[in-house]
Amino acid sequence: MSRTIRLFHRWLAPVFIVIMIAVLSTQGSAVGTILQRVQQGMVLIFALSGLYLFALPWWVKWRRGSKKSAIRQAARHEHTGA
Ligand code: HEM
Repeated sequence: MSRTIRLFHRWLAPVFIVIMIAVLSTQGSAVGTILQRVQQGMVLIFALSGLYLFALPWWVKWRRGSKKSAIRQAARHEHTGA
């Protein structure tokens, strides 16, 4: 899942640059207005997928940490027989 989002974010980058150039060169026309809407949508998608990539390292660490404590807890139960 995280790999898919990273690839999605990566491949959207050149598309975004092309749209940016298109928006700049069609400013003021009807096509320009539509492209501007597309660009706005893409910024939102970028922001959401970027936020996910940003939070990913902490999320992974947090998940590993809670798994480790679960293992520790299970081991403790084995010792005490609880
Ligand atoms: C609000 C907008 C954005 C946010 C919050 C964001 C955030 C991020 C984050 C957190 C990463 C991962 C960095 C890491 O590896 O630790 C990333 C990677 C990347 N971002 Fe963005 N980004 C945004 C917009 C953009 C835009 C507009 C572009 C280019 C047009 C872009 C291109 C890339 C590329 C090429 C990577 C590397 C992907 C990879 O590792 O395969 N990002 N971004």
